[in-house]
Amino acid sequence: MPELHVTTRGGDTKTVRGRSGMSTMEVIREAGFDELMALCGGELCCATCHVYVDPAFAGRLPAMSEDEDELLDSSEHREPGSRLSCQLPFGDDLDELRVTIAPED
Ligand code: FES
Repeated sequence: MPELHVTTRGGDTKTVRGRSGMSTMEVIREAGFDELMALCGGELCCATCHVYVDPAFAGRLPAMSEDEDELLDSSEHREPGSRLSCQLPFGDDLDELRVTIAPED
């Protein structure tokens, strides 16, 4: 199973396993990271699943939709590596992906 490295707001990094067919948000939530709230459950209307993606993986991610882009603009903590983790399908092609949970807005 592909692995995902998640860094919390406090700076702790934990490696978890995900399954193809899950979103990165679902992998993080299922692993017990409650600080990633994902309030809308992946419906692209809350931005509480905001993460920073390691730049090494930028070229392997799906293109950002206009809706995701607009929602990220509502965050005070947007950075070049910002993505909404519910919009990132996880799988073997993203094995070893590194994300950091963005600060709460
Ligand atoms: S979970 Fe709400 S936008 Fe991702």
